[in-house]
Amino acid sequence: RERTFIAIKPDGVQRGLISEIIHRFERKGYKLVAIKLVIPTKEFAEKHYHDLKGRPFFNGLRDFLSSGPVVAMVWEGQGVIKYGRKLIGATSPHNSEPGTIRGDLAVSVGRNTIHGSDGPETANAEIALWFKPEELVSYTSNAEKWLYEP
Ligand code: GTP
Ligand code: MG
Repeated sequence: RERTFIAIKPDGVQRGLISEIIHRFERKGYKLVAIKLVIPTKEFAEKHYHDLKGRPFFNGLRDFLSSGPVVAMVWEGQGVIKYGRKLIGATSPHNSEPGTIRGDLAVSVGRNTIHGSDGPETANAEIALWFKPEELVSYTSNAEKWLYEP
């Protein structure tokens, strides 16, 4: 099944939102297949957001992502890349709908608590950037037979 890379950014960790955010993905029915707490270096943050290099906010974004612990995760499930982005909400919390993570839990674009891969190629690239293959755990969740038709 499809996998996506999700990260709780330093603001989410510092504000005590780790369990709240994980709860939303868990409740939906997605399966956690990798998780760790890391403080990314500036170089690493730059790699993660390489597509935004040259944007006026890039240095601030890179410095912020490397300013403290980040919860790096891989979530698995049918449609998790696209729907995970729906759970997260629009990039700017000013536009995120209530009910979304950013809509409910954030107020400014530079401190929007969470990152989610924006497509299948970026999901694969980001999972490979943040995790070694052996850190991805394959297992059967008992809930799966209640979440999916055979
Ligand atoms: P991510 O899941 O973090 O990748 O966010 P996104 O996919 O919704 O947006 P995008 O990839 O375009 O931007 C990455 C991050 O850069 C955003 O989550 C914001 O934190 C930050 N960002 C994007 N646009 C702006 C902006 O106009 N100003 C500032 N300060 N930050 C921005
Ligand atoms: Mg993005």
